[in-house]
Amino acid sequence: MISVLSGIQPSGDLHVGNYLGALRNWVAHQHDNDAFYCIVDLHALTLEIGPDELRSRTFDTALNLLAVGLDPGACTLFVQSQVPEHPRLAWLLECTTSMGELRRMTHFKDKGGGQESVRVGLFTYPVLQAADILLYDAGRVPVGEDQRQHLELTRELAIRFNHRYGDTFVVPEAAVPGVGARVMDLQHPERKMSKSVDSPLGIINVFDDPAEIERKVKRAVTDTDGEVRFDPEEKPGVANLLALLAAATDRLPADVAKGYERYGDLKDDVAAALVELLAPLRARRLELLAEPSVVEAALRDGAARAHEVASATYARAAGAIGLLA
Ligand code: TRP
Repeated sequence: MISVLSGIQPSGDLHVGNYLGALRNWVAHQHDNDAFYCIVDLHALTLEIGPDELRSRTFDTALNLLAVGLDPGACTLFVQSQVPEHPRLAWLLECTTSMGELRRMTHFKDKGGGQESVRVGLFTYPVLQAADILLYDAGRVPVGEDQRQHLELTRELAIRFNHRYGDTFVVPEAAVPGVGARVMDLQHPERKMSKSVDSPLGIINVFDDPAEIERKVKRAVTDTDGEVRFDPEEKPGVANLLALLAAATDRLPADVAKGYERYGDLKDDVAAALVELLAPLRARRLELLAEPSVVEAALRDGAARAHEVASATYARAAGAIGLLA
């Protein structure tokens, strides 16, 4: 069985872009792989965040992941800081990484790389991410397109370490979903649905109630030519609605387009399909909110299981590099 690892920032809320683009795959593949899913609270410290906010977001993220269907009996869901090997391996890897390599990372450049006041942790962020992945011998890493560069670096570091110190790490592959899985903002369909964009009407949260979902879909931007066909270039708004309906009902966007004469009918069906898809997740979340001990227990078990694997890998790496056992 191949090991899979992915990480998620503790942002505290989830939108349908996260769910359809990534998390639904995490859920689908938790049974056929040895799957590790990590809430990366140490990475969250690379940008401004208050202690209470970090605590509550980390917990909410765990709760939300269980609500969307991660099963602690099938996969290992854990919080990064609860497995001490992550920063420990990151140090060994930092001593295998050059300044030049990290300076090239677009993540660092985009988030304030030029400023003197930027945190050192933001600079070394990709090395900690490499540690997340390599600790679990992950052969496959399901991530979005934006993480490709970090995966490339991870591969590079694994190959270099193996070459220098002997075979230690599995060299991972990125598993990036196709374009069909990209959900765009409902108000600005030329850009990805993202919580970093200030457009509350453009984002459908996984746990929105049915009335909110209907309202946002109804207000979604379309165009004036009135024809329903899948054409992301010319008709990004309509194409996004078709992509959403297709993803929610497991069909292809071009097939979904057939039979619609009016945007209104399409929107009604998109809203209904999303409500149906998300209703059980919402219900499960309400159950979990009433039973936080279920979340706590899942994280406790997850950390213990993750620690077992991570400590063995760390010991291998530490021994290879010459640290005393
Ligand atoms: N950098 C990733 C993101 O912003 C999160 C992440 C941290 C991650 N560690 C990881 C993703 C390990 C995959 C594997 O989305």
